[in-house]
Amino acid sequence: MKKKITVPEIRETKTNGRKICLVTCYDYTSATLVEKSDVEMILIGDSLGMTMLGFDGTIGVQPEDTIRLGAAVRRGAPTTFIIGDMPFGSYNVSDEQAVQTANRLMMGIGCDAIKLEGGRRSASRVKAIVDAGIPVCGHIGLTPQSSSAMGGFKVQGKSIEAAKELLEDAKAIEAAGAFMLMIEGVPVDVTQYIRKNINIPIIGIGAGPDCEAQAIIFQDMLGYTDWVPKFAKKYANVGPIMLDAFNAYHQEVTSGQFPTPEYSYNTKVEGLE
Ligand code: KIV
Repeated sequence: MKKKITVPEIRETKTNGRKICLVTCYDYTSATLVEKSDVEMILIGDSLGMTMLGFDGTIGVQPEDTIRLGAAVRRGAPTTFIIGDMPFGSYNVSDEQAVQTANRLMMGIGCDAIKLEGGRRSASRVKAIVDAGIPVCGHIGLTPQSSSAMGGFKVQGKSIEAAKELLEDAKAIEAAGAFMLMIEGVPVDVTQYIRKNINIPIIGIGAGPDCEAQAIIFQDMLGYTDWVPKFAKKYANVGPIMLDAFNAYHQEVTSGQFPTPEYSYNTKVEGLE
């Protein structure tokens, strides 16, 4: 069994030079594999809206979806640090609503921390959840729950003004007590600028190499689909392998090659004739 990384150990990556990584995960079987790997963290991302439920974005994911799938992931990955992602609409009403949702995720999934999107506008939510005793990871830059307001899934922080706004957001989330900050979809220079000016570790996704941690989507890194975002590297190409397997199965069934005696229970039952 691997030793689960702790919040203090994640914080220490800000100064000790250790690099750590996170992969999203949404089901038990996959979680058992992540658990066996060296990957330190799993996110039950609201990207499950796209990867598991077939939505074209993250809006529409319900806390129940995250909890149901997240609890299965926890069963498969008992010693991996798990972060539960707060879905859209589950924390934008009030600090109280945010704490209630965070409690539900912590208890329903058995996760180790929660993540929510937004900079200054989410600072009071972060503080309320931290004050309730729950570790929080912030998330700024390209925040998918706001993709409509942003005009789509677009790289953020592309001007000096926008970079300064992002730094203010990062500082607000740090001041509110977050132990880590996800930065998504911003230029490398902007990540460096923010990283130099805050004291909590940054977990980047599409934010360049200058981060204490990196995040990646499970299906992207394994190559389930032909298209992946520019920032996602395919470490395997399982899509074509799975497709070949489905077709090989179909071909053998329709041609009578499967199942052979090897895949059958061959005990002779007396008297059946
Ligand atoms: O929901 C998700 O998967 C995310 C990614 C940006 C890691 O938040």
